[in-house]
Amino acid sequence: PRVRCSGLRSRSPLCRVRAPQVHLLRFASWASYMTNSPTLIVMIGLPARGKTYMSKKLTRYLNWIGVPTKVFNLGVYRREAVKSYKSYDFFRHDNKEAMEILKLQKREGRVFDATNTTRERRDLILSFAKENAFKVFFVESVCDDPEVIAANILEVKVSSPDYPERHRENVMDDFLKRIECYKVTYQPLDPDLSSDLSFIKVINVGQRFLVNRVQDYIQSKIVYYLMNIHVQPRTIYLCRHGESEFNLVGKIGGDSGLSPRGKQFSQALKKFLEEQEIVDLKVWTSQLKRTIQTAESLGVLYEQWKILNEIDAGVCEEMTYAEIEAKYPEEFAMRDQEKYLYRYPGGESYQDLVQRLEPVIMELERQGNVLVISHQAVMRCLLAYFLDKSADELPYLRCPLHTILKLTPVAYGCKVETVALNVEAVNTHRDNPP
Ligand code: G3H
Repeated sequence: PRVRCSGLRSRSPLCRVRAPQVHLLRFASWASYMTNSPTLIVMIGLPARGKTYMSKKLTRYLNWIGVPTKVFNLGVYRREAVKSYKSYDFFRHDNKEAMEILKLQKREGRVFDATNTTRERRDLILSFAKENAFKVFFVESVCDDPEVIAANILEVKVSSPDYPERHRENVMDDFLKRIECYKVTYQPLDPDLSSDLSFIKVINVGQRFLVNRVQDYIQSKIVYYLMNIHVQPRTIYLCRHGESEFNLVGKIGGDSGLSPRGKQFSQALKKFLEEQEIVDLKVWTSQLKRTIQTAESLGVLYEQWKILNEIDAGVCEEMTYAEIEAKYPEEFAMRDQEKYLYRYPGGESYQDLVQRLEPVIMELERQGNVLVISHQAVMRCLLAYFLDKSADELPYLRCPLHTILKLTPVAYGCKVETVALNVEAVNTHRDNPP
């Protein structure tokens, strides 16, 4: 279900479908998503239990799969309120103003990132949700591992605006005291008392889970996602295949082999990986010749994934952009109008590609160090997930040949380093014409 596809637009060729049954499925899921109540995801947990980490990551994932979602962090609103009203009322469990921040202008999902540690507070949220026709899904993070808590405080709380000029030790001390205050009133979700609620309890950063009353497709996606993510440090390397014979002549798609410079790149990639000294690196390719040839030179084991194959350009496969423009001028113009949604006749859109790539993202979340050797459109989709890019930005992300993007998770996001391997290649990027 992708709500960007409005009713009007979905009848246009921009949302062309390949077969009637696919058409029916698409509209059924889209329609039910639009008529269903939006979901309010409510975090629960003591401070420093990774609620903000999960909120941000989950929101990024939901947006990427096409479920528009926003995070509302009570801490941010509280600081604003304290600044302007000089009042600490926001800390009270029965504070109705805090609920105001959840009011929906649009029909989108929201993640309410706050401690929500008392039943009273949760009941208030539930009655608010009832009045505003939301479905509520609780995500509780329970953690009693002092090392994890200390690491979390040091990683994200030291830089919090709550502690502008303090030193590390003071922050730790103050924060641990703050946690103790919350512990006095904390009422964890009780599976017996709360058996009618929909929730997932994440215990000790994913060591164990308790899942209750999953109501719908979105909630099952949330559960599946939270059960797959981890917080171990690791690096993901994304690159395209070496320059191909088709790249040299400006043709898209097809299954050509590497050009001489493409072969040079695969050697340079081997050297780069050796220098990085990566522990237990997994290498994934598509099932197209150009990525397989690139991986072959590395002299390591690799896995081929068919779902990593390049976007299917349908009737435009093996053509240059100039040939497509001459033979299918309307199609060519339509793609420039709405590149994310545009589906090639007999082929795919970027939106289709994101759906196809979801298992790759899920597996990347489960894994440690991975190098994904893929294709321009595929790499854009993967990159958009990690860098939280919108559907409008996604089809224009720059993923040059012979360049590696090194992604390292940091606090609430991802650090990107661009490593160009100094082997010349053609430029295959086509900007959106003005
Ligand atoms: O068609 C193959 C390209 O790698 C995708 O590029 O979406 O910018 O046309 P494009």
